[in-house]
Amino acid sequence: MHFDLTEEQIAVRDATRDFAQNVLKPGVIERDIEQRFPTEEVKAMGELGFLGMMTSPNYGGGGMDTVCYVLAMEELSKIDASASVVVSVCNSLVNWGLEKYGSEEQKQKYLTPLASGQKIGAFCLSEPEAGSDATSQRTTAVDMGDHYLLNGTKNWITNGGSASTYLVIAQTDVEKGHRGINCLIVERGMEGFIVGAKEDKMGIRGSDTHTLMFQDVKVPKENRIGEDGFGFKFAMKTLAGGRIGIASQALGIASGALEFALAYSKERKAFGKEIHKHQAIAFKLADMATEIEAARLLCLKAAWIKDQGQDYDLASSMAKLYASEIAQKATTEAVQIHGGYGYVREYHVERLMRDAKITQIYEGTSEVQRIVISRSILQD
Ligand code: CAA
Repeated sequence: MHFDLTEEQIAVRDATRDFAQNVLKPGVIERDIEQRFPTEEVKAMGELGFLGMMTSPNYGGGGMDTVCYVLAMEELSKIDASASVVVSVCNSLVNWGLEKYGSEEQKQKYLTPLASGQKIGAFCLSEPEAGSDATSQRTTAVDMGDHYLLNGTKNWITNGGSASTYLVIAQTDVEKGHRGINCLIVERGMEGFIVGAKEDKMGIRGSDTHTLMFQDVKVPKENRIGEDGFGFKFAMKTLAGGRIGIASQALGIASGALEFALAYSKERKAFGKEIHKHQAIAFKLADMATEIEAARLLCLKAAWIKDQGQDYDLASSMAKLYASEIAQKATTEAVQIHGGYGYVREYHVERLMRDAKITQIYEGTSEVQRIVISRSILQD
């Protein structure tokens, strides 16, 4: 066992770090205040290949491993989790699923523009009454012979207002339960597809989260991913990889908070010395650094297991559960270390604290991760 990164992995980490510090950081506070999607920044990330970094070069991607993806997600999320969630959803939930399970025609038509950054994708599973209980889909895709007739509402859809390609999970045969669910590729602009209200969120306010409505949308049969009834397993398998992305996002939010706290503790003086020279602060920093390193190891291990072609469901849920919990803790401590300055926008850590919360909720709540983990360790 060794823990060294390859030259490519180091290069990806350094490039995404530079991008985060030089391109994302200057406007991140304003975008958060104004709830403004990072349009120009996402365009630049697309041009640099961040949105399709794990997709094969045959389909316009970077062909990188999942370890590179974790390193990139950590660096981007240190500064701007609203931008990094676009990278995560595009890479893990949309491109990966299309590449793994899509037909050749679907890959040519939909994956290539997504992976090369010309278009943005969205993954549509959650519904008003089907969040954690994902088998209870109310959106229907009725088989009409050469097409499906899609009806229903999806909630909390990341990239909902800015995507062009949507993977929509819907129930075709209610009698078959989760085995009667399909995933359909829906294009923006299809008749009857309505992008609804944008959410006014506590955190990741630059991210574009919408309700979507489907009213008699005709989706061609060739837009179904996989065999009839494969949609729920498609969603679960795709989400397992997505959880590595969100775990790395949580890791980045935590390590960003630590970096801000370290820098501040060396500048700020109280009781006659820099505050890091007080043990009360130094011990907080020590705990944060230790927990962040443990989260990093869980993220990298989950990525490595996936890259080896082994089953990564357990590892990705463990990484997400732990990283999202320590992100809560580390960002709260970072605010505490900053004192009053931590409570105002200018010092970044209050935003990181708000952004951290979503990592315990989306792509499966902490409770869902505990379901996956406990089932896995108890199954023998
Ligand atoms: N890979 C392949 N198949 C899987 C699987 C996986 N990881 N997990 C489950 N399945 C299969 C099971 O084998 C089972 O199939 P069979 O009956 O044929 O054996 C089927 O799926 C149903 O599985 P369960 O019985 O385990 O299902 P459940 O109802 O008990 O639910 C759950 C399990 C883990 C709670 C699941 O519903 C779940 O993950 N819920 C959370 C959903 C979620 O993460 N939502 C996030 C929305 S997306 C998002 O946030 C994106 C964004 O925009 C950022």
